[in-house]
Amino acid sequence: MNIIEAIKERRSIRSYDGNGLSDVEITMLNNAIAEAYSPFRGEVKIELLRFGLKGDYKPSTYGVIKGATDYFLICYAADEDSVLAAGFMFEQVVLNAWMAGLGTCWIGGTFKGSTFERNLSLPDNVKLKAVSPVGTPGSTRLLERVTHFVMGSQNRKPFDTLFFEGDFNHPLSPDSRFGEALAMLRLAPSSTNSQPWRALVAGDTVHFYYLPKSYLSLLDCGIGLCHFSETERFNGQKGDFFIASDYPAPPKGWLYLRSYR
Ligand SMILES: Cc1cc2nc3c(=O)[nH]c(=O)nc-3n(C[C@H](O)[C@H](O)[C@H](O)COP(=O)(O)O)c2cc1C
Repeated sequence: MNIIEAIKERRSIRSYDGNGLSDVEITMLNNAIAEAYSPFRGEVKIELLRFGLKGDYKPSTYGVIKGATDYFLICYAADEDSVLAAGFMFEQVVLNAWMAGLGTCWIGGTFKGSTFERNLSLPDNVKLKAVSPVGTPGSTRLLERVTHFVMGSQNRKPFDTLFFEGDFNHPLSPDSRFGEALAMLRLAPSSTNSQPWRALVAGDTVHFYYLPKSYLSLLDCGIGLCHFSETERFNGQKGDFFIASDYPAPPKGWLYLRSYR
C-alpha cells in the first residue's frame, strides 16, 4: 500500500481486538515517530505507551475507545508552529500505522488527561493535548457506528467549496496542478469532522487559510497540510511552506495560515 492509498482508506478506529502491539510493531511505530518531520518549527513530543493488557490499569476516554492497550500521547507547546507541527508529524505516524494494518483515532476532546500522564515527564511549556489508541481493529461495535454517524465521519465538504483559483469566486479544477494534493488534504481527519481548511491557488503558489471552529482547528490544519505535503512528495514535487508577506485577502472569518510553492 502506498501513501495515497493509505490516505484514501484510513478512517478512525475506536474498537480494538484487546491484544497489545507486538514488539515488531512497537519498534516500527517508534521509528515512525523518530522519522516524522515537520516544515514548521515548534516543540512536539510524541510517546507510545502501554497501559496494561486486560484487567490492568486503563486510562479514560469516557468509553469512546474499546479494547486498546497501547496509546500515543501527543504533547506540544502552545505557539502556532508547535500546534501545526504536532498535527503534521503525528499524522505521518497515523498513515504509517494504517499501512501496517493498525488503526488509530486522534482524540483531542474525549479523554481524561490525568489518567494518561502518570509517567510522563515534559518540559514546562509542553502539555499533553491529544492521545490516540493504536492496535489491530476489533469488530465494529454499535457505539462506534453511532459515533461515526453522529460525526458524519464519512462525509467531506465538496472540493469546490474548499479550494479556489485566482479569487474566492472561482472553484479550483480538481485536474489542475495542485488538484490531487488538495483532494488528499480534503480526506484528512479533523475534530468533529469540522474540516476548517481552505486554499486559494494563485499561479504556482497555494495560499492556505482556515475557518477557526474550535481550539483544535489549528491542529486539524497541521493534519491537512501533512496529507497535502505527503502527496506532493509522493509525486516528486519539492515545494516549501512559507509565510507570505502578501496574500489575497480572504472572506470574513477566514484566517491566513501558510503558503506553499
Ligand atoms: C484533532 C482531532 C481531534 C479529535 N478528537 C476526537 C475525540 O475527542 N473523540 C472522538 O471520538 N473522535 C475524535 N476525532 C476523530 C474525528 O471525529 C474523525 O477524524 C472525523 O469524524 C473524521 O472521521 P475519520 O477519521 O473516520 O475520517 C478527532 C480528530 C481529530 C483530527
